[in-house]
Amino acid sequence: MPQASKTTIFETRLGFYLAAIGSAFGLGNLWRFPYVVAQNGGGAFVLLYLFMVLLVGVPFLIGELMLGKISRSSLVPALHKLAGERYQVRDVRESEVKPAPWLRWLLKNAGTLGLVTTMVVLAYYAVISGWVLHFLMQLLVSLFNPERFHADGALKVLLDNGWLQLLLTSVHLLLVAIIVANDLEFGLEKWVGYCMPVFVILMIALAFKSLSLESASEAMQFLFYPDFSKLTLKSPGQAIGHVFFTLSVGFGSMVTFGSYLREKMYLPMAGFRVCTLDSAISLWAGVMIFPLVVYGNSDFGGPQLLFQTVPKLVSVMPGGHWFGVGFFLCLYLASLGASIGLFENVVANWREMRRVPRQRGASMVALIVFLLAVGPALSSSVLSGVRVGGRGLLEFLDEALINWCLPITALVVSQVVAWLLKTELMAAEFNDRESAGSERLYKNWIFSLRYVTGPIVVIALLLQLIAQF
Ligand code: PHE
Repeated sequence: MPQASKTTIFETRLGFYLAAIGSAFGLGNLWRFPYVVAQNGGGAFVLLYLFMVLLVGVPFLIGELMLGKISRSSLVPALHKLAGERYQVRDVRESEVKPAPWLRWLLKNAGTLGLVTTMVVLAYYAVISGWVLHFLMQLLVSLFNPERFHADGALKVLLDNGWLQLLLTSVHLLLVAIIVANDLEFGLEKWVGYCMPVFVILMIALAFKSLSLESASEAMQFLFYPDFSKLTLKSPGQAIGHVFFTLSVGFGSMVTFGSYLREKMYLPMAGFRVCTLDSAISLWAGVMIFPLVVYGNSDFGGPQLLFQTVPKLVSVMPGGHWFGVGFFLCLYLASLGASIGLFENVVANWREMRRVPRQRGASMVALIVFLLAVGPALSSSVLSGVRVGGRGLLEFLDEALINWCLPITALVVSQVVAWLLKTELMAAEFNDRESAGSERLYKNWIFSLRYVTGPIVVIALLLQLIAQF
């Protein structure tokens, strides 16, 4: 069983934080957050998003870590075990009775949906990571000859050339597959964690530059002044979808991470810290990017937003190319760490279910994900004529997976945790000798999963559905 070696992986508390933050922190914060905020009208959406992080994100994240930690397994095997199947996984069911057929069906399919979502997300995540690589290389090449770099030109070359995107995507996927196949990811994710301070410094410097533009006050008003009339029926669903994406909830990744945790880790605090740090980074990304959007009259929203704005900034600021190289290098490392988290999730589940050797599992996953990435990589060029619901392929996938599949899986997992797991084991995880209110905290958490957060996600999904018609 892989479990025996897993329990020793996060020997220190810092090791867990670095890996969990390395997985949470990625393109979701810098690439996706700003464009979703732009599409949803700014400040009111930011408030809604923060509200959802606290209300839904924190309890759900703790729930996924909990499922992994007490069952000592990844999502799919844990759900199959809960469905009453015979697996060599720790039994953490509260009730002895075998679940009803509908529940068994739900438990098995929710896990599969989580894994399919992970693979498709990884596919277009790899495409965007390829974009990051492209800008990194362009900036590196023109480091000593800054005139050679044209921010708009670099983006156009990329968008017009789908095969270049596919090539960069393959390079990225290959790198990720090699790292996972050789079991190097834990070292590397920690590395990503260590690189974060450098990244924070670079982001502070870029944000200061950005805030010195005359467009800054208008941009800050857009970002922080809530105009609730800008929200639509789709906004709550989009906020929840993004909360799950950025916190890596609803994929099964955090269940796998939970299974690697050592016994003494205090889960509520871990969940809360990961959520606050991740949200702070996203907000900071907004502060950095929106003055540039307003300044350059860029097209609001859309997956190209980050790549339209940051390269422009670095090409106008003194010494900007060095900042640009640093920024895209850190961004690439962050997206590498996140891609590894996604990839590892599929391989870990697969290995525990089917006992496939790590290297064979990794090669199969890489091949499937590569095939899935062909569509999104070519979506701005060869396949630009393919539109689904008025959107290009990449945007369609992003919307369908993040706003629908993720919330559905996350909802099922949270309800599994809330209703089916042994309460005694969960309550023990909240037991912290240092904090007196831990029993109350546990009760509030279970109550919120059962009666508050679940219904909120359902209502958000229903509103989103109504908005489709
Ligand atoms: N949370 C990551 C991001 O914001 C994406 C991710 C999801 C990474 C799931 C690992 C697992 O970019």
